[in-house]
Amino acid sequence: MKLKKLGQSDIEVTELTFGCMSIVNDINCDNQNEKDSIQAIELSIAEGINFFDTAPMYGDGASEVLLGKALGTSRKKVVLASKIHGPLKKADVLRECEKSLTRLNTDYIDLYQIHWPDWNTPLEETIAALEQLKTDGKIRLYGVSNFGKQDLSEAIRLGNVVTNQMSYNLIWRNIEKEVQPICQKAGIGILCYSSMMQGLLTGKFKDVADVPEGRARSRHFSKNNRPLVRHQENGFEKETFDAIDALRKICETHHLPMGTLALKWLLAQPAVTSVLAGARNAQQAKENIDAVNSEVSTEILKEASEATEHLKNVSGFNLDMWAPGSRIR
Ligand SMILES: NC(=O)c1ccc[n+]([C@@H]2O[C@H](COP(=O)([O-])OP(=O)(O)OC[C@H]3O[C@@H](n4cnc5c(N)ncnc54)[C@H](OP(=O)(O)O)[C@@H]3O)[C@@H](O)[C@H]2O)c1
Repeated sequence: MKLKKLGQSDIEVTELTFGCMSIVNDINCDNQNEKDSIQAIELSIAEGINFFDTAPMYGDGASEVLLGKALGTSRKKVVLASKIHGPLKKADVLRECEKSLTRLNTDYIDLYQIHWPDWNTPLEETIAALEQLKTDGKIRLYGVSNFGKQDLSEAIRLGNVVTNQMSYNLIWRNIEKEVQPICQKAGIGILCYSSMMQGLLTGKFKDVADVPEGRARSRHFSKNNRPLVRHQENGFEKETFDAIDALRKICETHHLPMGTLALKWLLAQPAVTSVLAGARNAQQAKENIDAVNSEVSTEILKEASEATEHLKNVSGFNLDMWAPGSRIR
């Protein structure tokens, strides 16, 4: 698989990242089996995937622990990304990094990312702590996640940020409006999360009623009669499923799995370094690897852009898929 550099660093990662949120149980993912998760990770390593993304938030540390266990002696062959959230004062950053290192059973993290901005701590202080971790050899690089125009611009001014991990997929294209051009100009790599919109872009849900409650929490969906939804908006369900139906037709015409179109489309967009895909078992992991290794013509990718343009226009500027208001600015 093609390798790309993380930002302007020399560290190279595969275009597909194994996303470790769904290797443990959470709101989108129940009855997850540890054996399936380990097999998915082992297959990915065997197939040449070298980039793994986790966070303490996933399963309250359980994802980091399981990833560390599954990597075993392959740890040094891969590029390991984790995150920090919550208060980001210097002492918090140094302490939480130690905890992640212990859970991951490693003595360094390759890419340490600020999971969400902490507007109560000066970013300068957080960046200074990350620089110290680099000097101490605990991390190799740092990046941000869920940083919009304002926070990203400040982070670029203050530090050596290499990546911005953002929700980006064919039915959630809001980063194109302001953030992607900043990344492109500054040489910041975009790591796309929810690349298949938590399975919606694999075509497994035929209409709105099919989508399980835990996956109908994003702004695409109406708040009405959905107790798990946090945002208080009416959503854009019709436009979302019109777009998914249009993508389904494109894929049927060209004999292409929908997940393949979702992943290959992202990889053709400016500043995108790698697409994060969650896989719950080895079969899904293999399908996602095959998808990224396949070729999809620029004409088909253009059709997909056109099919989702209207949805992009109605979905506004909010980059936060879930919260009331926005935690991204
Ligand atoms: N920075 C952040 O704030 C943030 C937020 C969210 C996620 N992330 C990262 O991004 C990664 C991926 O995001 P995500 O898990 O939200 O979404 P995703 O990758 O779009 O969707 C993953 C889900 O899609 C289904 N799936 C995967 N491969 C499939 C295949 N080949 N065929 C059919 N279904 C398939 C699986 O669920 P089912 O089989 O149950 O349908 C899987 O759990 C996470 O693991 C995490 O590392 C980061």
